[in-house]
Amino acid sequence: MTTLVIDRIGRLVTNDPALGEGPLGVVRDAALVLEGDRVVAIAPAGAAGDERVDADGRCVIPGFVDSHTHLVFAGDRAEEFAARMAGAPYAAGGIVVTTEATRAASAAELTALTRRRREEGLRAGVTHVEVKSGYGLDVATEQRLCEVAGAFTDDVTFLGAHAVPPEYAGRADDYVELVCTEMLAACAPRARWIDVFCERGAFDADQARAVLRAGAAAGLGLRVHGNQLGPGPGAQLAVELGAASVDHCTHLDDADVAALAASETVATFLPATDFCTREPYPDARRVIDAGATVALATNCNPGSSYTTSMAFCMALAVRDLRMTAAEALVAATLGGARALRRTDVGHLAPGARADVAILDAPHESHLVYRPGVPLVAATIAAGRVVWSEPTFPRD
Ligand code: NIG
Repeated sequence: MTTLVIDRIGRLVTNDPALGEGPLGVVRDAALVLEGDRVVAIAPAGAAGDERVDADGRCVIPGFVDSHTHLVFAGDRAEEFAARMAGAPYAAGGIVVTTEATRAASAAELTALTRRRREEGLRAGVTHVEVKSGYGLDVATEQRLCEVAGAFTDDVTFLGAHAVPPEYAGRADDYVELVCTEMLAACAPRARWIDVFCERGAFDADQARAVLRAGAAAGLGLRVHGNQLGPGPGAQLAVELGAASVDHCTHLDDADVAALAASETVATFLPATDFCTREPYPDARRVIDAGATVALATNCNPGSSYTTSMAFCMALAVRDLRMTAAEALVAATLGGARALRRTDVGHLAPGARADVAILDAPHESHLVYRPGVPLVAATIAAGRVVWSEPTFPRD
């Protein structure tokens, strides 16, 4: 098998304090040796290999792990966004607007749309994504969305319980029954996770519990959208049922924070959503200081957060959620891996998947110090250079 050496790395962030300095485990003047899709060694600069990428003093980080996306959809809601910026409130009801366009799209059309969004993420250093269904809301379309998502990741999430579709208006319990039976049977073989939007205007605690229990019985891991639009039962339910993560976490009370801190459930913050909906930001400092594990993700979706930029989320997390720059980077990489219960991504150590972002910067803090600037010079996913700037030097 050929080896690829990323040589002359100024700062290599490993996310493993045993391998280098500080909480990020930084190794200076390093070479990262990849073989096939794995990291095989961290060596001093100048290490030998079959192929070589010259980082020329740049900072190298683990590729971003975006643990919460809704990449598979059709249609556009730019007008809804513009209206919101002009003062209209955000409501969960917008989901059905996208559902109409998504139901009308073929698998080939959805695959092409998802590929463009995925390529956008690769250019921004995102080497692993979770992708949800949730804009089909009928059996055939939810199955189609899970199949399309499966072409892009092995972390597919079945989100039939995203909204009550118009044909079930006023009959939410009947829709939950469909999600837990026929829809789950069609989607579970194509998914690793099940998720539920447990929120005012979406599904209540009893409905969410029924969906999650049915998913667990079908062998799926659990995820929860909770505490986004106001206080609610999502975080406590996620902890009670042993969910891998509860996502949004904008409105957590003291009991929610204590429950998360005492659990294995990761609190995932989606600050681009709070930005795009003009909602208050969560206080991540309080959650971190309580001892909970946290992650950052984009929540890329057409309604409340149409971005694939993890660096943008990091900048918001540092500016508005009171995270340090180092905490934000860990949350966007290792935190995402933990939210997906994976040990192969989110860090760079021998044995890890060779998922790497080479920054056009000497220091990882530039990701938040230079907000809005595309700073990824090259992205390597599973050992392959999948994107590089035209000017990035290689030999
Ligand atoms: O996370 N919470 C549910 N889903 C999205 C909203 C999706 C939409 O508005 O289309 C969210 O914000």
